[in-house]
Amino acid sequence: MVRNSKKLIKDLAKKGILKIIDQELDVNLEIPHLAYIEIKKKEPKVLLFTNPVDKKLGLKYEIPVLMNIFSSYELTEFYLGRPVKEIEEEIESLLKLKPPTSFGDKIDLFKKLFSLKSVFPKRENTPISKTHKKYILDLNKLPILKTWEFDGGKFITMGQVFTQSLNGNISNVGMYRLQVFDEKTLGMHWQIHKDSTVFYNEFMEAGKDMPVAIAIGGDPVNTWVATAPLPHGINEMLLYGFVKKENAKLVKTNNGLFVPADADIVIEGFVKPNSLRVEGPFGDHTGYYTLEEEYPTMEVTNIWISNLPIYYATVVGKPPLEDKYMGWATERIFLPLLKTTAPDLIDYVMPENGVFHNLIIAKMKTKYKGHALQFMHAFWGVGQMSFVKHSIFVDEDAPNLTDYENLTTYILNRLNINNILISESTKILIDEQFETEYIDDAMVKGKSIAIKVYQLLAMKTPNHEKVIEKK
Ligand SMILES: Cc1cc2nc3c(=O)[nH]c(=O)nc-3n(C[C@H](O)[C@H](O)[C@H](O)COP(=O)(O)O)c2cc1C
Repeated sequence: MVRNSKKLIKDLAKKGILKIIDQELDVNLEIPHLAYIEIKKKEPKVLLFTNPVDKKLGLKYEIPVLMNIFSSYELTEFYLGRPVKEIEEEIESLLKLKPPTSFGDKIDLFKKLFSLKSVFPKRENTPISKTHKKYILDLNKLPILKTWEFDGGKFITMGQVFTQSLNGNISNVGMYRLQVFDEKTLGMHWQIHKDSTVFYNEFMEAGKDMPVAIAIGGDPVNTWVATAPLPHGINEMLLYGFVKKENAKLVKTNNGLFVPADADIVIEGFVKPNSLRVEGPFGDHTGYYTLEEEYPTMEVTNIWISNLPIYYATVVGKPPLEDKYMGWATERIFLPLLKTTAPDLIDYVMPENGVFHNLIIAKMKTKYKGHALQFMHAFWGVGQMSFVKHSIFVDEDAPNLTDYENLTTYILNRLNINNILISESTKILIDEQFETEYIDDAMVKGKSIAIKVYQLLAMKTPNHEKVIEKK
């Protein structure tokens, strides 16, 4: 069942976790600040701001703002429609598919394969003009937020960015922040190793305009799949169908892309070759501002809205925030996939204290001296795992991975500081404050742990010194 924004609001109200705020509140800092405070509470509410305004510009927006939709584990599973564990097990069993040997096996296999028929997105050749209506072609008419004091401007923070390869064979959706430069121009903060950048480079080389469509709202699972680090070439909308056991229904934008039919707002346009512009600063997951840097820009050609649209947004900042819960679902579901590269992996966690990609703790079956180090290198090569700064691999007898206190003792008792290597790997711009990384594969008393650490060096620019929580 597709949970569009109207159904979502109803469901959240029924659960008693929707708080409607009718007071006029500013999209600049006020609305995001309330959402930020709320999500840090023990039992946070999802907030619907019905009267967003921009006091400085004297604007009242007609579209409400919805925040904190991913504010707990329970809510995340509610959107996915089933326990994350069940999804993890289903992926695991599919990856282990063997030719059936008995009648029972055949039935089982048939059931599994049959369930996959809902995976493929349905590209209805319906033009978006049939499901949505044209809105004023002015980004300033959308209640886009400025979340932190020294941010370079307003940013769309929950945009599902749809792109495709130059030959049109591969489609992708990713969630990247998008800075509003003026009524028709957006900054595309897709990092250099992300799928959209691969496509952008193809269009650049061909000297062609790249079509882009940004969907906001609709079923929360659309937003979640946009954050999932699926390998290049695999459309995240397949994950939507797999998880929900229901094909994603897509409609066609005027620039030839396909977006979820249930989206509340769709912004379409083109990224022209060499249309770079300085983007940022932006208060980021680390609690620091990311640097200003050049990114491609998108020229908006149409803005579409559904009937009574809602604008979804999130605050990016120090965890725990919404990315904690989105990241948790991804972490769990990716365990069986990681096991295909690293079969001796037992479990792993990416604790929020490490801002996810900065710390991974994994438990493995260590079979021989140096195995952990070998294992760690395999991990670094797997897609976005390459951004991980601190990887700690422990043996199967280690305490539970979330029992941080006992685990720390376990690690410190086995760490060998004489065995450090310096290595270079991928870093993303939000990691500019990290400079060097160390690897340690320590074997003490037959127990192996491997550690990869970036050492925190100097804050490189004045922007980094602006810790966003000072706000
Ligand atoms: C709240 C939030 C904000 C994000 N912002 C960005 C961003 O600005 N740029 C970026 O490249 N990735 C960002 N990401 C991470 C991407 O969504 C993630 O890496 C995703 O897998 C990218 O999709 P792709 O691999 O299809 O390119 C963000 C993730 C979250 C949860």
